[in-house]
Amino acid sequence: MNDLLIRGRVLTFVREPQGVDDSESYQFYEDGAVLVISGRISAVGHHRDVAAEAGGRVQVVDHRPHLVLPGLIDTHLHFPQTQAIASYGAQLLEWLNTYIFVEEQKFREGEHAAFIAGRFMDELISNGTTTAVAYCSVHPESVDAFFTAAEERNMLMIGGKVMMDRNAPDALRDTPQTGYDETKRLIGKWHGRGRAQYAISPRFAITSTPQQMEIARVLAAEHPECYVQTHLSENRDEIAFATSLYPAARDYTDIYARYDLLGRKTLLGHCIYLSDREVSLLAETGAIGVFCPTSNLFLGSGLFDRDRFDRLGARFSVATDVGAGTSFSMLETMDQAYKILHLQGQRLSPLNSFYRMTLGNAQALELEHRIGSLHVGADADIVVLDSRAKSAMELRMQVASSLAEELFVLQTMGDDRCVAEVYVAGKPMKRATGRVAVGQERELEAM
Ligand code: GUN
Ligand code: ZN
Repeated sequence: MNDLLIRGRVLTFVREPQGVDDSESYQFYEDGAVLVISGRISAVGHHRDVAAEAGGRVQVVDHRPHLVLPGLIDTHLHFPQTQAIASYGAQLLEWLNTYIFVEEQKFREGEHAAFIAGRFMDELISNGTTTAVAYCSVHPESVDAFFTAAEERNMLMIGGKVMMDRNAPDALRDTPQTGYDETKRLIGKWHGRGRAQYAISPRFAITSTPQQMEIARVLAAEHPECYVQTHLSENRDEIAFATSLYPAARDYTDIYARYDLLGRKTLLGHCIYLSDREVSLLAETGAIGVFCPTSNLFLGSGLFDRDRFDRLGARFSVATDVGAGTSFSMLETMDQAYKILHLQGQRLSPLNSFYRMTLGNAQALELEHRIGSLHVGADADIVVLDSRAKSAMELRMQVASSLAEELFVLQTMGDDRCVAEVYVAGKPMKRATGRVAVGQERELEAM
């Protein structure tokens, strides 16, 4: 099934780049190829070597002159917010109450949840994202819809039912007991089924009572194989409200620490206003701060201080945070990341951006043995990027003289139109959905 030789300009990272042109941090084959056998990568390298290994027994897809990279990874977004992107004019708490808590109520209906879940997965694929970590709504039906849509496409997706038992409309509240029972049942049903992985998801300290946080502690202890995801320190009003609800906690991060929720499989959305003490606690526990650039700009939340994470040795990842995030595109996300860091006198090199979207995010999820790089034995989740997909890009590329420059053009000017093809476990998915950009349709007709 799906045995393929994918030919193109192959790029994959082996570690985090240490400078703007750290050529030891990646492997690049100008005329390269990836051999895919039964959904896994069985060879990577120069085309002539890989072709010799394939020995003419597989179908060849020639993507030259496009780049062939590992599928992109998004470590934080909300699938029920797909139709709430671009909701005008509010900061976090008002935005949640005005738009999001209204939108998420629709996911009680399995049919609606299934419709959006399918479109959500197709949107990810269209943007070159092959793995994502998502919040579902409070309704178990939304989790079933999410993992069913992922399973239909054979995508490695991580997600979970939001737990929230206060400071939300009645229709969106569970209880500590139902939150526990439903989460437990959903983990049993989905975690480890095919490529599905579960994330225990107390939304944030504001919407969970101490009793529910206690339940989250129990769930995380009973299921160390699962992820934990929540939000931390995104907005000043949120911080004041959260800490007022947990007066015994030293600070916002301490709320989660008190319930043993900080560990290497914990993803903490935003982490903008942390003290050094809090970032050091993340470093000690291995918990991940998730940088969500388009969301932080859209909600006027603030600027993520990446250099402080690096200085204090804390781990971080990057994410879209749709629907506060305004795009499913990790390319557009890294464009905004560059600008947020630039505003603070920090640099984000193009090599580092592409490392972050691929191997860096895979390492944050401790999934680097399976996804995030093109190595023998890895799942064949692959994206093909066209650096000339828009006419302004084509013009800019006429004067680009290095790989790093090309990557920077892609990151700064690119979007879903640059995603020429996406392979999920070795199967071509973007053209198959029919949702291809206009420029690519012409290319298809010519084939
Ligand atoms: N904090 C709690 N819930 C949310 C959410 O849905 N989006 C964002 N951006 N922040 C949150
Ligand atoms: Zn979020």
